[in-house]
Amino acid sequence: MKNGEAIFLVILFVLSPLIGNCAEMGSFQYKDFKRPKRCGVCHREIYQEWRQSLMAQCFTHGWDQVEYFKLALPHALRLKKVSGVKAGCIACHSPISFLSGDIPPGPASAKTRANEGVSCEVCHNITGSTKKVPFNFSFIIKPGRVKQGPRRDARSPAHGVRYSKFIKSPEFCATCHDEQSPYGAWVKATYREWKAGPYSKEGTTCQDCHMYRAPGKPGIGGKMRADMAHHVFHGSHFASKLAGAVDLALYAKKANISPGSMLNLRAELFNGKVGHYIPSGSTEERMLWLEVWATDASGKKYSIPVDRKGFKGEKYTIADSSAMAYQAMGEIMGIKGFKGVKRDGNCPDGARIFRHPFFDPKGRMTICQWYTVDNTLVDYRIAPRETKIENYTWAVPRDIAPGPLSIKASLFYSEVPSSVGKFLRLPASEYAPILVNTTKLTLEVKK
Ligand code: HEC
Ligand code: HEC
Ligand code: HEC
Ligand code: HEC
Ligand code: HEC
Repeated sequence: MKNGEAIFLVILFVLSPLIGNCAEMGSFQYKDFKRPKRCGVCHREIYQEWRQSLMAQCFTHGWDQVEYFKLALPHALRLKKVSGVKAGCIACHSPISFLSGDIPPGPASAKTRANEGVSCEVCHNITGSTKKVPFNFSFIIKPGRVKQGPRRDARSPAHGVRYSKFIKSPEFCATCHDEQSPYGAWVKATYREWKAGPYSKEGTTCQDCHMYRAPGKPGIGGKMRADMAHHVFHGSHFASKLAGAVDLALYAKKANISPGSMLNLRAELFNGKVGHYIPSGSTEERMLWLEVWATDASGKKYSIPVDRKGFKGEKYTIADSSAMAYQAMGEIMGIKGFKGVKRDGNCPDGARIFRHPFFDPKGRMTICQWYTVDNTLVDYRIAPRETKIENYTWAVPRDIAPGPLSIKASLFYSEVPSSVGKFLRLPASEYAPILVNTTKLTLEVKK
C-alpha cells in the first residue's frame, strides 16, 4: 500500500463513526419542516393519534426533560467521552432541532419547535439509512414538497408523494430504536431483538403491531382505504398495551397443606404478544417483576420469595431492599458522598425481576445509558414467545390460620425504579407500577 492511501484510510477510519453514523447536524433550518398542525388539517385522525402518542412527547415528556437537562447535558459538558450526547440525544428525540443546529434546545417551557418531538415531517421525509443495519439516528432526511409514503397510488393536492419501501420496513424504526453508547455497548436493541426472533421470520413488522390497520380515509380528499395505518405507537406508556402482554399461570403441587410443611409453587410466564423482549427499549430503567403473596384465613399476608436458579448475575434479578445503585446520578449532580438509591424501588424482597442491568465505568448499576460500558453480565428478560418458569419453595409458618389460603401472583411493570423517580422528583405517574397480569389459586390449610 502506498503512503498516501494508508493516510487516507486512517482518516476515513477515524472519521467514519462521526460521519457514517448519523444525519448531519445543522444542515437545515426549522422553517424547512412544516408544523404537524398543518398536516393535521387534512390528516385529522392520524394527527389526533400521533398527538396522544409518545412520539409527540419525545422531547416535552417529564422524564425526558429531566434526564436530558439534569443528567445527560451537564455530564456531556464535563466528560469528553460522552460529549457527543449533547447533540445525540436530540437527534432522536427532536430531530428537527438537531438538523437545524439548535443544540442544546431550550427546555420544554420555552416552547421552541423542539417540542414537536418526532413529528410528521421527521418520519415522512426520511428516505433511507446510511447503515444497512440501522442504529444511532442513521436516517437520511430530505425535507421538501415530496412526502415518503406507503402507497403507490396516493395523490395529494397539498404535496408530492413518493412510494417508499423503506418506511414500511422495521429498518426504518431501527434508525432510532437501536442505539450504541459512546462506549460501544448496545443500550437499545428492539430491532435486533425482533430480527433474531420469530416475528421477523413470519413477516410481522413493527408497523403491524404498533400502527394497526383498519378501513379509513387517511387524508381528506383522498381515497377510502381498506387498511389505513393508524398512528397509535402504543408502547409501555399505555396500560392497555401492557395488559396481558405476558400470559401468567400458577400451580401448586398439592391442594392441601399443613402448618410447618413445605409448599411448592410454579409460575409460568409466556410472552405471546410482544414482538421483541419484554421489557425492551430503555431497558436500563425498565422493570418487570412477579410478586407472589399468600393470604391466610385470618387475613394475614406473607410474601413468598422465588427459588434461586444459580445463573451468573442472578442477584440483580431478585429484589433486595438493601441493595443500592445508580450512584452516577449523584456524581453528575455534584452531591458529595452520594450512596445511591434503592436498586429495586418498592419491589418486595424476593420478587423475581425480569430486567437487563447496565453498568457504568466504575462497575455500578446505572440508569445512565450513555455512561454504560457493559450490559452483558445478565439479561433476564422474556424473549418473544419464550416461556419462563419460576419455582417457589415456601416453609408454611407454624402459626398460619387454618382454612382457605389464597395465593396471588401479580406481574407488574415500571418505566423507572420508584426510588429513582422520587429522587429526581418525577411525576408519580411516570414510575407507578402498572399491572400486566394477575392470577389466583386457593389452597386449604388443614389443622
Ligand atoms: C390539503 C390537504 C393535505 C394536507 C395539508 C397534507 N396532506 Fe398529506 N395527503 C393528502 C391526501 C388527500 C393524501 C392521499 C391519501 C390517500 O389517497 O390515501 C395525502 C397523502 C399523504 C401521505 C401518504 C402517501 C401514501 O403513500 O399513502 C403522507 C405520508 C402525507 N400525506 C403526509 C403529509 C404531511 C407530512 C403533511 C404536512 C406537512 C401533509 N401530508 C399535509 C392531503 C393533505
Ligand atoms: C414515527 C414515524 C411516523 C410519524 C411521526 C408519523 N408517521 Fe405517518 N406513517 C409512518 C409509517 C411507518 C407509515 C406507513 C405504515 C405502513 O403502511 O406500514 C405511515 C403512513 C402514513 C400515511 C398513509 C396511511 C395509509 O395507510 O395510507 C399518512 C397519510 C401519514 N402517515 C401521515 C402522517 C401525519 C399527518 C403525521 C403527523 C401527524 C404522521 N404521519 C406521523 C410513520 C410515521
Ligand atoms: C426519528 C426517530 C424515531 C423513529 C424513526 C421511530 N421512533 Fe419510535 N420513538 C422514538 C423516541 C425518541 C421514542 C421515545 C419517546 C419518549 O421520549 O418517551 C419512541 C418511542 C416509541 C414507542 C414507545 C411508546 C410508549 O408508549 O412507550 C413505540 C411503540 C415506538 N416508538 C414505535 C416506533 C415504530 C413502530 C417505529 C417505526 C414505524 C418508530 N417508533 C420509529 C423515536 C423514533
Ligand atoms: C407482535 C407484535 C409486536 C411487534 C412485531 C413489535 N412490537 Fe413493540 N411492543 C409490542 C407490545 C405488546 C408491547 C408492550 C410491551 C412492552 O412494553 O414491552 C411493545 C412495546 C414496544 C416498545 C416499548 C418497550 C418498553 O418496554 O418500553 C417499543 C419501543 C416498541 N415496542 C418498538 C417496537 C419496534 C421498533 C418494533 C420492530 C423492530 C416492534 N416494537 C415490534 C408488540 C410488538
Ligand atoms: C438512537 C436514538 C436515541 C438516542 C441517541 C437517545 N434516545 Fe432516548 N429514547 C429513544 C427511543 C427509541 C426511546 C424509547 C424506548 C422505549 O420506549 O423503551 C427512548 C427513551 C428515552 C427515555 C425514556 C422515556 C420514558 O418515558 O421512559 C428517556 C428518559 C430518554 N430516552 C432520554 C434520552 C437521553 C437523555 C439521551 C441522550 C443521552 C437519549 N435519550 C438518546 C431513542 C434515542
